[in-house]
Amino acid sequence: MHVIRDNISLDGGVEPVEVDVNRFDTYRAHVVEDGRRAVETLCAEVGDRHVAVVTDQTVDTLSPTRELAKALDERGLIIGWYAIEPGEGSKSLGTASRLIDWLAGIELARRDAVVSIGGGVVMDTVGYVASVFMRGVPYINVPTTLLGQVDAGIGGKVSVDHCTGKNLVGAFWQPRAVVSNMEFLSSLDRRQIRAGMAEVVKKAVIASPCLFEYIECNAAQLLEGVPSAMHPLVRAATRIKSSLIARDPYERDLRRPLNFGHTVGHAVETATGYGPVLHGEAVSFGMAVAVRIALARDLITAADAERIIGLLRALELPVTPAELAVEPDPDRVLACVDTVRRVRDGSLRFVLPLELGATAIVDDVSDGEIRAALTGSPVGRPE
Ligand SMILES: NC(=O)c1ccc[n+]([C@@H]2O[C@H](COP(=O)([O-])OP(=O)(O)OC[C@H]3O[C@@H](n4cnc5c(N)ncnc54)[C@H](O)[C@@H]3O)[C@@H](O)[C@H]2O)c1
Ligand SMILES: [Zn+2]
Repeated sequence: MHVIRDNISLDGGVEPVEVDVNRFDTYRAHVVEDGRRAVETLCAEVGDRHVAVVTDQTVDTLSPTRELAKALDERGLIIGWYAIEPGEGSKSLGTASRLIDWLAGIELARRDAVVSIGGGVVMDTVGYVASVFMRGVPYINVPTTLLGQVDAGIGGKVSVDHCTGKNLVGAFWQPRAVVSNMEFLSSLDRRQIRAGMAEVVKKAVIASPCLFEYIECNAAQLLEGVPSAMHPLVRAATRIKSSLIARDPYERDLRRPLNFGHTVGHAVETATGYGPVLHGEAVSFGMAVAVRIALARDLITAADAERIIGLLRALELPVTPAELAVEPDPDRVLACVDTVRRVRDGSLRFVLPLELGATAIVDDVSDGEIRAALTGSPVGRPE
């Protein structure tokens, strides 16, 4: 028998009652090199919970997915399996609503878990559904894209898109565990790998000179998605993201080094209508713009600026407008940046690199500086 007894007094006070509901979430993000270890790790994290698995129709057919399905099935743990259509269009309230109907239909209980196997689209949608279904059920991420493994799978920012804005409907709801299996990366197309690499370069520039050097030395193998080369990279990126979000899990502070490349990157995505330019490509271009602004302000040495731009080039990522799939109109990019500035009370926090492993967050970057850096001559290459 477990007795709980309380005796809260009538204190007669008038001051407000402090409601302290700080939530402390701790979970493990595993980075494993092959399917066998992925199975062991996922099964250990699932334990004896029943699971509802959500994936997309492309990922559903991949052999590392089938291996996980077989293992969970043999243990009798699967209560349902759902494959959504691949693509950003699925990250919607419509899909979320269908998933909620389905979870209710298969009677997922609070102590069960949802497992999402897929890229950012699947994980963001499933995470959002897990955050609202029965006021929150556990979920486990199995990211299958590089972007998913180094970024979207960790951090608990979950959302779906709305017709008026990307990621407009969402929550902070942390996964119970993350299992990144390098084998998934070998079936990923090269453009997706490159886009994921942009987010890794971002993390290397802001927080890890040795990761930067590792990418410089192994660029060719990384672009091929070779699992043994990917493992240290994904692990380092996971550690960097985990350490940076631990300082500010609910993003209360707008001065976030993880936003490096994103001010202009988001503007480029908006100005080109979300789609033709992948997020990572836009971020790569955005980082190049930030490097050029930092260089013009003498905040970074020409050598460091060239190293950053040179690495983006080695990874076949865009650093000039002409290298983007759709060349954005500078006026539209500036208009999008301006919208953000207005929303943020007139101040735009811009992350500028100082050297590898150090950034400055400034709020006085002018339109003129941005315009010059958008169209300015690329560092490290003669006019
Ligand atoms: N929550 C976050 O913190 C966060 C961070 C970054 C991005 N995101 C979100 O992530 C989404 C983009 O994620 P993404 O780039 O992973 O895209 P995605 O989920 O759309 O996947 C890209 C494509 O690759 C396919 N695919 C996935 N894994 C594969 C594999 N192993 N082999 C072959 N094909 C595979 C998918 O079916 C899809 O067609 C965006 O919606 C973005 O907003 C979220
Ligand atoms: Zn990003």
